[in-house]
Amino acid sequence: MKKIVIAIDGYSSCGKSTTAKRVAAELGYAYIDTGAMYRAVTLYFLQNHVSFTNPKEISKALDSIDVAFNYNPKVKRNEVYLNGLNVEDEIRKMYISNQVSEVSVLVEVRRAMVAQQQKMGRKRGVVMDGRDIGTAVFPDAEVKIFMTADVDTRAKRRQQELLEKKQLVNLNEIKENLEKRDLIDSTRAESPLRRAEDAYLLDTSYMIIDEQVEFVLDKVASKVLVH
Ligand code: DC
Repeated sequence: MKKIVIAIDGYSSCGKSTTAKRVAAELGYAYIDTGAMYRAVTLYFLQNHVSFTNPKEISKALDSIDVAFNYNPKVKRNEVYLNGLNVEDEIRKMYISNQVSEVSVLVEVRRAMVAQQQKMGRKRGVVMDGRDIGTAVFPDAEVKIFMTADVDTRAKRRQQELLEKKQLVNLNEIKENLEKRDLIDSTRAESPLRRAEDAYLLDTSYMIIDEQVEFVLDKVASKVLVH
């Protein structure tokens, strides 16, 4: 069957990655978590004291960064590596969440990440989640989904996820972080978060994962069968 690109964009913590992972597994597609790439860059910038306002330092840092995904059979998932080191757990911590949107607005960072993502998906057969996949990375994606959910629901889900990783974080802190990131992500100049005109809207406030996965698979089936 023809391989396609499935772009899943939307606000922070509305279930994009859980849905995308499941859809990828169902279809035997690769799953690419582009947020993890911006998080890994943020970790590098913080560890190496890269100034967010110095274009020369930013470009130099980007030349020294290698972000890759490697499959870990023990946990049956792709994990993120920064210059050969597994940073999967580190990049999910709150101090990264608090800085990642500031790094993601940087034009040099976006251009480098978008180019790498386009390369990763050039053979198609990928599910990619992020903020600008359907608008900037793969404007020609065959299926585009734009996910949203009410912010209180998202904050509670995120708190639960962090708890499962043994990180206890106050609900208000999470909610403030989500609102701040959504604002920065959707108002930045370079490829802001917005719904592509041809993206299906998926509000997950009252949905369970199975329903979200089914929604996407339905759209994929109609696309692949009709075309
Ligand atoms: O999906 P996430 O919450 O892990 O993403 C972390 C941040 O990365 C998000 O707040 C904005 C940025 N991001 C982006 O700018 N573009 C993407 N395609 C993916 C993420």
